[in-house]
Amino acid sequence: MKTKVGIIGAGPAGLMLSHLLQLEGIESIILESRSREDIEGTIRAGVLEQGTIDLLNATGVGERMMREGHVHEGIELQFRNKRHRIDFKELTGGKEIMVYAQHEVIKDLVAARLDAGGQIYFNVSDVSLHQIETDTPKIKFCQEDGRELEEIECDFIAGCDGFHGPSRKAIPDRVKVEKQKVYPFGWLGILADAPPANPELIYSNHERGFALVSTRSPEIQRYYLQVDPNDDIKNWSDDRIWEELHARVDMDGWRLTDGPIIQKNIVSMRSFVCETMRYGRLFLAGDSAHIVPPTGAKGLNLAVADIQVLAKGITEFYKEGKEETLEHYSDICLRRVWKAQRFSNWMTTMLHRDFEHSSFEHGIQLAELEYVTSSRAAMTSLAENYVGLPLEIQSNAEKLQI
Ligand code: APR
Ligand code: PHB
Repeated sequence: MKTKVGIIGAGPAGLMLSHLLQLEGIESIILESRSREDIEGTIRAGVLEQGTIDLLNATGVGERMMREGHVHEGIELQFRNKRHRIDFKELTGGKEIMVYAQHEVIKDLVAARLDAGGQIYFNVSDVSLHQIETDTPKIKFCQEDGRELEEIECDFIAGCDGFHGPSRKAIPDRVKVEKQKVYPFGWLGILADAPPANPELIYSNHERGFALVSTRSPEIQRYYLQVDPNDDIKNWSDDRIWEELHARVDMDGWRLTDGPIIQKNIVSMRSFVCETMRYGRLFLAGDSAHIVPPTGAKGLNLAVADIQVLAKGITEFYKEGKEETLEHYSDICLRRVWKAQRFSNWMTTMLHRDFEHSSFEHGIQLAELEYVTSSRAAMTSLAENYVGLPLEIQSNAEKLQI
């Protein structure tokens, strides 16, 4: 097989890249190790920045999101038994966020790719990358039920295969620069069959630990509890989950409505950056290059931002014979990635209860919350980061020429 761009992974990064390239008339093939049903049904986070909303709309895949998603103009921060609203729309000159589950974005992108005749191979195995330092990189893989290894010859490989995929591992250790922090926190996430509790998300810092009130639809709600990352979900009966949620978010005169829990799991939290986002003709994008803790709601949005840079670079390569954006791909993406890392780390540190902390450190944490909910400058900083910082696609070299 032959194509221009071989894409490993049909997450938001791989699907969006294939979609943007197709709009420019550039062909690609996507290889995905899981089934279509699996990727379309896996529950992940669900907050889209203004820039992500705009991109989905501008490229013709935003229609269902606009119909079924929920626009939020702000969030609430809760601590010391009080709620404080951060008004994004007012503080950022009109920007908003959309609560629309990641697997719904995946469904819309898969449908758009298949409708346009795009090639997605699901259920592939044994994916490996070859000759990535050359102009003719190759991907080897086995098709579903196939025993023979097949080969795709391409001009570029996009490693969009998440944190555990083979792409990042194909970069030699001697050139790879990786940085990470692991948090002593886990998130227990549930989907509950219950009516919405609040018109906006509530981030609660409580003595017993962090809790988050989010939503999915008028019938289904999404809630999270800070737990020990090594805890076992079997230790969490539905009654215990509700008891803990009530303790951490209920206030005088306001009580979360219970309902049957239809899904629950625990995830650990880390911040991770692979600064070598480009090696030869291999480009990493999304979770394969960086992971953020979910407190800032940035994961999917960062993946989409990388892809816009990569799609621009590849398009310039074919249409104008220019390689500058591709050459500077890592630097261009990393500037924004590190800012999102800063914000996600800050939100996580401010909102979670670190049980190793002294009473002094806890005092500083509450003062941070008092400050961020009382100073307009601090609120604006939170708001502009949450709705998404601008995507500056120009490289340093291009900026200097202006
Ligand atoms: N071969 C083919 N596909 C693979 C392989 C492999 N060896 N390994 C992983 N994959 C696939 C996964 O099955 C998954 O569908 O790559 C895809 C990666 O998708 P995501 O993990 O969703 O990563 P990304 O597209 O970068 O999107 C980032 O996803 O995990 C969330 O919070 C994260 O919102 C963020 C977003
Ligand atoms: C979600 O709805 O899944 C969600 C919302 C906000 C976050 C993380 C996850 O910060």
